Amino acid sequence: MQNNVLILDFGSQYTQLIARRVRELNIFCEIKPYNKPPEDLSIYKAVILSGSPFSVRAEDAPHPDLSEIQGKVPLLAVCYGAQYLAHFKGGNVSPSNTREYGRANLSYIKSEEAFFDNISEGSQVWMSHSDTIKVLPTNGVKLASTNDVENAAYKIEGEDTYAIQFHPEVYHSTDGKQLLENFLVHIAGVEQTWTPAAFVETTVDYLREKIGDEKVILGLSGGVDSSVAAMLLHRAIGKNLHCIFVNNGLLRKDEFPSVLKQYEGMGLNVKGVDASARFLDELAGESDPEKKRKIIGRVFIEVFDDESHLVTNAKWLAQGTIYPDVIESVSATGGPSATIKSHHNVGGLPDFMKLSVVEPLRMLFKDEVRRVGASMGLDPLLLGRHPFPGPGLAIRILGDITREKVAILQEVDAIFINGLKEAGLYDDVWQAGAMLLPVNSVGVMGDERTYEKCVALRAVESTDGMTADWVNLPYEFLQKTSNDIINKVRGVNRVVYDISSKPPATIEWE
Ligand code: XMP
Repeated sequence: MQNNVLILDFGSQYTQLIARRVRELNIFCEIKPYNKPPEDLSIYKAVILSGSPFSVRAEDAPHPDLSEIQGKVPLLAVCYGAQYLAHFKGGNVSPSNTREYGRANLSYIKSEEAFFDNISEGSQVWMSHSDTIKVLPTNGVKLASTNDVENAAYKIEGEDTYAIQFHPEVYHSTDGKQLLENFLVHIAGVEQTWTPAAFVETTVDYLREKIGDEKVILGLSGGVDSSVAAMLLHRAIGKNLHCIFVNNGLLRKDEFPSVLKQYEGMGLNVKGVDASARFLDELAGESDPEKKRKIIGRVFIEVFDDESHLVTNAKWLAQGTIYPDVIESVSATGGPSATIKSHHNVGGLPDFMKLSVVEPLRMLFKDEVRRVGASMGLDPLLLGRHPFPGPGLAIRILGDITREKVAILQEVDAIFINGLKEAGLYDDVWQAGAMLLPVNSVGVMGDERTYEKCVALRAVESTDGMTADWVNLPYEFLQKTSNDIINKVRGVNRVVYDISSKPPATIEWE
């Protein structure tokens, strides 16, 4: 990849944010753990050192050799990175007398420096550190201070090496993005060519070359990631891409035929496989959430394997894995050992399938996948769909799963989701759905006593599903939805609304 920026990760909770800010500048970047730097540094136009939960003075703190980077490639050192650079080059880092967390304002800015283009005295920055740089490194020159931090920014004379104690990547550093642009574009001369269209062009060329005339199988889920992966591959290899869309019997109401139709409309070579009975039979009698997940994962792979054998000479399996799933970041608690997050996608490839894996989106963040999808003309309805878990309604039916319960929940869910769309609320919500609870309660309909099921509605706002808060849906909307559900769905006589945030609750109930 041309015009690449390397982010060396020292384990900061903000490292991914640095990458996102850089990408927002239309500049490509990669995160690598500090203890596994890439062998070939010549492909990088600039390097950024991240923050870290460590103190440079701690024995087990990251202390990599920077001599191949510093002075040779434009370098920006952030927070711990700035302290470590000072420590590495003969400066002094000591505990600070005052705690330095949160808001601060830059003063004594060396405004003649390109580093501070369009940034004025008093600019707000975000601090999060307890050590401070008392003595600058050899040839260090102070560029800015704050009330509590003398050396809030410095450079090394004669080099494109800059260091800042604050975090430019967080939104509270109001000129943070400008500062990153000043360093990357004005100083390091990196071109801002990383756009969705450029990504599509280079990825399609790459896929065409890598795959040649061979056949690829891809499992579509109806979600954004697998759909965008399919579009890229379709553009690269056309009919040699064989998509499989499995109905596990736990999808939303009418989702299987409607999504299949949408895919066919996109020109994809897609086969719909209705394996509902197989999934539901295997799940019968199982109430444990994790066991339900495992059964669904196993049956999915079995169905997928059966289907892939029907495609003669298939050599590749494509997956919609995205960047947060593959970043090897430094574990803050486990020292310098690297941790890789597992991902929710097709669930890993069993050895017996003997297919090579291709992951066209493995360098993209979720919002970038959406931008790429939009630039390729992906239907906005598909693009804006709420996330839906792989195990589907199975983890929204608490307790064991029966066909009758699935049918009830599909009806309830459809009323809720269609209601959100009709009320213009769907796009204000990150994810919504209904849970079928394993309790019956007493009600009265007409003059009859009822003893029926209770459903819980859940609507949350979030950016990545890691944390979430319940959405304050209008009372009138909840009132109408509750009435509609109880009047129209047989077997339900009570509706409740979930007002728990994550943490401590989770989005799904199982
Ligand atoms: P939780 O319930 O952990 O959900 O707060 C966070 C996000 O992950 C989705 N989710 C899953 N997705 N397989 C998936 O593909 C799963 O087993 C699974 N469990 C939860 C959930 O819908 C939400 O978007």
